[in-house]
Order: sequence, then structure tokens, then C-alpha cells
Amino acid sequence: MADSQPRILILGAPGAGKGTQSARMADHFDIEHVTTGDALRANKDMDISDMDTEYDTPREYMDQGELVPDAVVNAIVEEALSQAGGFVLDGYPRNLEQAEELEDMTDLDVVLQLEVGEGELVHRLTGRRMDPETGDIYHLEYNPPEDEDVEERLVQRDDDTEETVKERLRVYRESTEPVIEHYEEEGVLEVVDGEQSPGEVWADVKATIEDTV
Ligand code: AP5
Repeated sequence: MADSQPRILILGAPGAGKGTQSARMADHFDIEHVTTGDALRANKDMDISDMDTEYDTPREYMDQGELVPDAVVNAIVEEALSQAGGFVLDGYPRNLEQAEELEDMTDLDVVLQLEVGEGELVHRLTGRRMDPETGDIYHLEYNPPEDEDVEERLVQRDDDTEETVKERLRVYRESTEPVIEHYEEEGVLEVVDGEQSPGEVWADVKATIEDTV
């Protein structure tokens, strides 16, 4: 593996495990976790009305499972990448226009896709909970917290209801699957079986990065 820090793109459907695996990559390779979802959640009520958008804040888009307008997200990613050495980029690009923008922002060393079937995705998202104090991600069945205090303070994301999850998956199929096909056609896509346990997925992700970079 090269000395410089890797620049990794992780793709996959909502609930495929991008956040879970990105946290491990960031820690193991000592790189930034650049995530548009977290950045937008931290700025859900920012005023974007001067960007000629349908709604005035990201919240309306996110709570309905729709994509936030490209201009808002492109600016977030450009700023974050300009400050990062190595990184794992999670949640972007989500359509072909964003993929084109990304090409102007940076080169990539690895493009990973976590592959998970749709029934499993719904189960993972509706059972996901987050610790609001640490940001750690749990699952009520697959990965419950051991500490009772943590268990009591867990919260569910506003967009993890069954109805919104279905819309997020529809948007993914329509807008983001073409991005995956684009990287596949370029011959740079590394596919990892995301239906294994988190530890098994991590072993494959780590080996793929080490073999590719
Ligand atoms: P975002 O936050 O990016 O959500 P997402 O892509 O829908 O992905 P998730 O965070 O839901 O899932 P994940 O793949 O990270 O899975 P996780 O590791 O948590 O985006 C949210 C919204 O923001 C979008 O809908 C949009 O509105 C907006 N947005 C974001 N980026 C945008 C962009 N570029 N353009 C426009 N709008 C944008 O795992 C899920 C659950 O499964 C957890 O409970 C976890 O514990 C469990 N789990 C993980 N791995 C495993 C495993 N191997 N086995 C069993 N359980 C597992």
C-alpha cells in the first residue's frame, strides 16, 4: 500500500452499511469521514432560499426522502475535501451530475460498493438507532448497545420510518444506481458483499483497499 493516505469513495443503498464501514475506515487508515448525510443533518434548518430551491431548508427534502439540491451538497463536499488529505466519501455522489462535479474536485484511489438486497435494507433502517451523545450507530436486533444508559437515550432518525425508507430506496434506484453503473463502466468499481456480518464486511473492505491502493 502506498505511503499517502487513501482517497476512498463508498457507494451503496440507504442502509447498506456505508456509515458503519466508513467509521472503521476513518479510524484504521487515519483519514477524514466526509459524509453529506451527517453534514446536512447538522444543518437541517439552514436557510437555502437564496439558492433558488423549491424548499427553504434541507429538512423538507430529507424528511420526505428526497435529494437535497445539488448546489447545496456540492458546496459542502467541495469545502470538506479541500481540507482533507485522505478521506472516505460517504453519501456523495448521488446522481450523475454530482459525479461529474466530483471529477473536478479530486481523484479517487478506490471506489467501493456495498451490495445488500432490498428486504434487508428496510429491516436495517427501521431498526437503526443512534446515540445522540456520541453519534454511534446501533441496531435494535443486530447490534444493540451493552450499556443500559446508552440504550435509554437512543433515538431514531426522522427519515427511518417505513414510508420514508421506501421513498429513499426509490430515489436511490432512480438517481444513484446510474452512478454505480458509471463507475462499473469505467472499470474502477470494487463490489463487496454487504450482507455479511459487520466484521466480515470490514475484513473484505480493508483487504480490497489494501490490494487496490
Ligand atoms: P444519508 O445520511 O447519506 O443516508 P443514506 O445514504 O440513506 O444512508 P444511511 O445513513 O441511511 O445508511 P448507511 O449505508 O450509512 O447504513 P448504516 O451504516 O447506518 O442521507 C440522508 C438524506 O440526506 C438523503 O435522503 C438526502 O435527503 C440527503 N442527502 C445526503 N447526501 C446527499 C447528496 N449527495 N445529495 C442530495 N441529498 C443528499 O447501517 C444501517 C443500519 O444497519 C444500522 O443500524 C447498522 O447498525 C446496521 N448494519 C450496518 N452494517 C450491518 C451489517 N453488516 N449487518 C447487520 N446490520 C448492519
